[in-house]
Order: sequence, then C-alpha cells, then structure tokens
Amino acid sequence: MSKTFVGSGRVVHALHDVSFQVMPGEFVTIIGASGSGKSTLFNLCVGLLEPDEGSIIIDGNRPPSRLGMLGYMPQRDLLLPWRSVLDNVILPQDIKGVPRKESRQKAMDMVKRFGLEGFEHDYPSALSGGMRQRAALLRTWLTGCDTLLLDEPFGALDALTRKELQDWLLGVWQEFGRTVVFITHDVEEAAYLADRVIVLGARPGTVKRELVVDLPRPRRLSMLAEPGFGELVRTLLADLGVDGSVYL
Ligand SMILES: Nc1ncnc2c1ncn2[C@@H]1O[C@H](COP(=O)(O)OP(=O)(O)O)[C@@H](O)[C@H]1O
Ligand SMILES: [Mg+2]
Repeated sequence: MSKTFVGSGRVVHALHDVSFQVMPGEFVTIIGASGSGKSTLFNLCVGLLEPDEGSIIIDGNRPPSRLGMLGYMPQRDLLLPWRSVLDNVILPQDIKGVPRKESRQKAMDMVKRFGLEGFEHDYPSALSGGMRQRAALLRTWLTGCDTLLLDEPFGALDALTRKELQDWLLGVWQEFGRTVVFITHDVEEAAYLADRVIVLGARPGTVKRELVVDLPRPRRLSMLAEPGFGELVRTLLADLGVDGSVYL
C-alpha cells in the first residue's frame, strides 16, 4: 500500500508500495529510521487510516472496517492517570459495555503473568517504566485479538529493563501462541525477538529487506555474542545506512 499526507502546505509521502505478509503465530519486527512511516503502517493496518493505494487483507478477506480486528498498542502508553492499573487494562471492555465484574476477573487472571500483582489498585504514577509498559501490553492483550501490533513498546526504557521485558514478552508469546508485529528502531532488539525482520527505508517508506532470523528458540542473551547474530545486526545496520565499520 501507499499513503501520502497532504495538509498545511506540505505533502509527505509516508509509504510507497509497502507489501508484506505475517503468518499466524509469527513474531515479526519492523525496523526503520524515525519518520520512515512505521506508525503510519500500523494506523493503516488497524483501520485508523485508509491507504491511498493497495489494501490490507486479514485472514484472506478485505473487511469493510478493520477497527477492533487487531490488537494495537500505540507508541505512547496512554494510561489514564485517574484510573487504577486494573481499570486502565479493562478500558476497551468498559467502552464495549462488558460488565466490569467480568472484565476485572479476566484481567486478574493475567495480572500475575504480566508482573503486576500487588499493583492492580495503584494509579499509573506509582509504576516503574517497565510496569507501565506491561500494563499497556496487558490492555492490548485482553482485547482477545489473535494479532498484536506493538509500536516501540520498549523504546523509552533503560537498557536493563528493556532486556528483561524482551525475554518476558518472548515467554508470553511462546506460551500463548499469538501473532506479534513489533516496531522498533533498535537493531539488536529487532533481530533478537524476531522470526523475521522487515526493514523500512525512509522517505517514502519502502520495504528494503525481509530478513529471516534462524536463531533457535528460546532465545538466550548469550546468543548476542554469537557470530551469526553479529552478522544479522551488521546487515540491518548497513540497510539503515549506518556505517558498519564503527561496529565491527
Ligand atoms: N496525520 C499525519 N498528518 C501529516 N503527516 C503525518 C501524519 N502522520 C504521520 N505523518 C508524517 O509521515 C511520516 C511518517 O511518520 P510516522 O509513521 O510517524 O513515522 P515513524 O513511526 O517511522 O517515526 C512523517 O514524516 C510524519 O511527519
Ligand atoms: Mg512511530
């Protein structure tokens, strides 16, 4: 698909002829420089925007409205400061009119697995950055959608917390078998998590490469030191126009 934004005297060709597929149960990462159209791509997939050309096919169909078909965690966590953690994670069910008792119970069943036990009744301001992101992920998770689109969920975290959450997310993904599409601008993160990395080139955003990551699962931190992993990272950096010599 292609997408151009026109407004206030500016024309931005955000995406041009972008095409790829995601298979059930896959973990696909999308990497690209800032402004390469990654968030736009997700907004198109979930139905908040319509492409100028092309279409989005879900389970073999082009549904008239895609809203609500894919789980979406936007780039900012958007937790409401005046709602408790529990009431934040059930917000989509509240909007749909699901009885609170029912949605709270469903949320409580997953709270421990998401590392939020004991914080259910706190406000988001009491949470660490990592916990905020897990709360936002739980909210997306509880929509029940098979496919989750996560826009730079760990982008604002410190390196240590980020590594912890990467392994935690892979654990949850393997345990429950959902499909994940994950945007990042961190090359190591893209390679470490994925079955397949899609590289977006900038202005306009196009698919520059699809790279299969054939490292065994479960992934281990020790894999970061393996030559195969270094090779993947160098390939991705070169695609993104970063001078590889610095990293060799
Ligand atoms: N609603 C919009 N109106 C106008 N321009 C937009 C809009 N959304 C995104 N853009 C522009 O499209 C380009 C891609 O943006 P975005 O998808 O947010 O990139 P990324 O997520 O890769 O950083 C940017 O130049 C951005 O300014
Ligand atoms: Mg973005």
